[in-house]
Amino acid sequence: MAPFRINATKQSFVNFKGDCLIIPLYSDAKTLPDRLRELDERHNNIISGSLRSDEFSANPSQTFVLNLPPDSPLRKIILCGIGSSKDLKSEGLRKSIASAARQSEKLGGKIGIALPVSDNLKPEVIAGIALEGFILAVYKFERYKSNNKGSKKSQLKAITILSPDAGNLKSIDSSLRKAEAICDAVWFGRDIINSPANAFNTQSFVTEARKLSKRAKVKAEIIGKEELKKLGMNAILGVAQGSAQPPKLIALEYKGGKAGKAPLVLVGKGVVFDSGGLSLKQPLKMLEMKQDMGGAGVILSAFRAIIELGIKINMVALIPTVENMPSGTAYRPGDIIKTHSGITVEVLNTDAEGRLILADALSYARKYKPQAVIDVATLTGGIKIALGRVGCGVFSPDDSLAEIILGASENTGEKAWRFPLWDEFDRMIESNMADIKNSAGPEGSSITAAKFLGRFTTDYKWAHIDIANVDYASSDEELFRKGATGFGIRLLINLIENWKQ
Ligand code: BES
Ligand code: MN
Ligand code: ZN
Repeated sequence: MAPFRINATKQSFVNFKGDCLIIPLYSDAKTLPDRLRELDERHNNIISGSLRSDEFSANPSQTFVLNLPPDSPLRKIILCGIGSSKDLKSEGLRKSIASAARQSEKLGGKIGIALPVSDNLKPEVIAGIALEGFILAVYKFERYKSNNKGSKKSQLKAITILSPDAGNLKSIDSSLRKAEAICDAVWFGRDIINSPANAFNTQSFVTEARKLSKRAKVKAEIIGKEELKKLGMNAILGVAQGSAQPPKLIALEYKGGKAGKAPLVLVGKGVVFDSGGLSLKQPLKMLEMKQDMGGAGVILSAFRAIIELGIKINMVALIPTVENMPSGTAYRPGDIIKTHSGITVEVLNTDAEGRLILADALSYARKYKPQAVIDVATLTGGIKIALGRVGCGVFSPDDSLAEIILGASENTGEKAWRFPLWDEFDRMIESNMADIKNSAGPEGSSITAAKFLGRFTTDYKWAHIDIANVDYASSDEELFRKGATGFGIRLLINLIENWKQ
């Protein structure tokens, strides 16, 4: 939970007292909008002066810090560019406020955000996006920094959203509460994905699921090793057998919708650490593998937000969780595994473990007679080669489900690109010893991985989202810092909110 107060007011900008006021400005506005005039005059035309200078052109995400005299009730103004006024883009606004948030967070204290007015976005929508940009940007993972209590003085205490001339305070307020709940889920997801593997293990997922199951309409089912054996979940058991940590399959059910309505099932890859197993990864590639439970982190966080927001839907979150380790008991290249579905798999590479645990979970998902199943996984290194770190990969034989995912992606700004599932790829996963093999080499590897999953999803509408390239950042950007991004959490929440059950 973000540790600062959030409120909205209709007070005029000039009356705001605090450490900093963030003012978004359009790049094509020749003169200052009326609503900023009084504030500008109060401070000797410092804002209009900056707009006229060459130093600030209000291009998207550009920021400009103005220091005010010590006797002023406001310490600083941060101008931030939001581009053309013709068509205010939500992602542009989100990132622009995020850039300003990074500047303001050093000041701490009380921050105001002066909402811009737009022809194409409603005031309450603008308010929600601005707050989202702010909260996402100021997230830090400092749990393990011994001196993280020392910087109390510069801590953010309150965010005030100022909307003196547009919108209704009540609808702005409810939009802010919603943005807060969504960002809360993203912070939660980032925390667990950033947690090192020695702190967050398969049992930690059980603990989180049990916590959620205390909420109304939520039930948790934890399937342990013995029951996994009885159910024939040999793929999950196989991957887990080299580790000292017991595997679990966690099923969280939320009955927020009409009784008897078929649920939407989300499945998340929960590999708490992926060493590669006996097909051991190189040290540099292994370095980030505490994040290999990103898919599970994302669906758990989205699930949490859906409960929090009280969305009327029946849904299930399925989390197969294991650790992939090399040892004397580990599964081997060449092993043949009979999966829960009955399909046999030849293991060519123990590092292609994600698709194995997902195979059993996806096959188990049939028991819910789902309306649709969406799995989210840090599945392949290949997706980084295909899309860089810009957007996730979407794979689905179902056009309407793929469109729904791409639509949610447009809404939240988390980019997504749909890949083909051409028949020619099927041949690449055939095995001469078993029904299929778990690795088809580097060519089109994200697609052959999806094709593998597709063998276990024949009874329902299904889509797969590969987030291996976007769930963990190697450097700071506007909306996240190096480390877990929480990519996909907002996308899933948006998708579920708009789901027609
Ligand atoms: N967890 C990895 C995929 C991954 C790579 C996630 C980079 C995040 C960043 C997955 O289990 C894996 O090892 N995939 C292999 C499969 C290959 C051996 C067939 C890959 O894609 O390289
Ligand atoms: Mn792997
Ligand atoms: Zn993996």
